[in-house]
Amino acid sequence: MVPPQSLRSLPPEGARPALGRPGGGPAAFADLTPAVESRLPQVGTTIFTVMSALAQQHGAVNLGQGFPDFDCDPRLLDAVDAAMRGGLNQYPPMAGVPALRERVAEKMAALYGHRYDPATEVTITAGATQAILTAILALIHPGDEVIVLDPSYDSYDPSIVLAGATPVHVPLTPGSFAPDFDRIAAALTPRTRAVVVNSPHNPSGTCWSEDDMLRLAELLRPTGAFVISDEVYEHMVFDGEHQSVARHPELAARSVVVSSFGKTYHVTGWKVGYAAAPAALSAEFRKVHQFNVFTVNTPMQHGIAAFMAEPSHHLGLPAFYRAKRDFFRAGLAKTRLRALPCQGTYFQCVDYSAVSDKPEADFCRWLTTEIGVAAIPLSAFYADAFEQRIARFCFGKKDETLALALDRLASL
Ligand SMILES: Cc1ncc(COP(=O)(O)O)c(C=O)c1O
Repeated sequence: MVPPQSLRSLPPEGARPALGRPGGGPAAFADLTPAVESRLPQVGTTIFTVMSALAQQHGAVNLGQGFPDFDCDPRLLDAVDAAMRGGLNQYPPMAGVPALRERVAEKMAALYGHRYDPATEVTITAGATQAILTAILALIHPGDEVIVLDPSYDSYDPSIVLAGATPVHVPLTPGSFAPDFDRIAAALTPRTRAVVVNSPHNPSGTCWSEDDMLRLAELLRPTGAFVISDEVYEHMVFDGEHQSVARHPELAARSVVVSSFGKTYHVTGWKVGYAAAPAALSAEFRKVHQFNVFTVNTPMQHGIAAFMAEPSHHLGLPAFYRAKRDFFRAGLAKTRLRALPCQGTYFQCVDYSAVSDKPEADFCRWLTTEIGVAAIPLSAFYADAFEQRIARFCFGKKDETLALALDRLASL
């Protein structure tokens, strides 16, 4: 049966092709669908989906995809519940609930010393992914180039391509994953419209230093390039302070800072985040946001605003995840996997070259099906599938989940 929704998109009566084949048989429904020219021909099923399905099929401990397997603070649920039952269920202001924008501005001023105006410079988004796409669509024009530092989160490229621009991939230094400023400088052209920066970094778990930020500021000084600064792991920094671009006025003036309440409050499925940027950039950002999602769901915003009023809820996060990192790394030290440094995020990369010389995707498949622990190949984060015999685990899991995974990894 043809679903009524699809009938609505059929051409008017008379212009429709006959519902039958020349031979008299019924046409397949799919034959009636006009050919699609993909806007994103390179995009297929992601490695995260593939590995999660494989993990489920084989009863593997899923340390692949980056989400916690524990619940959030019940006080956050209570705050959202109170908002819903209190009748806060209709459209909020387009840029977000004022109380939440105020909380974000307060937090950023307290931590990074730069006061964003909640009225004109902070916008609540449907997660960081929407904020990144919106920033790119708002600021980047067809024909522009955007520098992406590989390995990189998988939404950057499609967002840039949808804007009609070209992603220019520059590798982080293999081994240390530090930014290679000579290579970034060499990639800058008059068409460079933005650089995407992600610190703390998924997948490597490294963090940019103050010196890195100063060098980026210096490099971009003579250019008209923006910075899209993906800081979704801002509250998961284990040594020292998070280097937000907001700390550096020269960078803040050309940046959209993106963060995610999903990551910070263990509610990745809620998809609420924000973008903070100077008023001129935020105005353009909001033009796209208005006709993309228009608004983000109201009760979640009120609930998060109430929960966020207590700063210990985000300030306590480094200690919480540091304990998990240390537990996981202590276990890995008893295996033949070599843990790479992890300064931030909930990702731990391992060099498995003492165990296997398989390519990364094959190794991760084997690890999932034969050893019972799912991981993600680092090559999946490179545009050119660069191979280093490195796999990424997510340690944002219950201690018993990590213990079970470590038990299995000890057999390697
Ligand atoms: C680096 C990075 N940016 C953005 C996101 C997406 O965040 P959100 O779920 O808020 O869209 C993720 C999620 O894994 C991420 O790792």
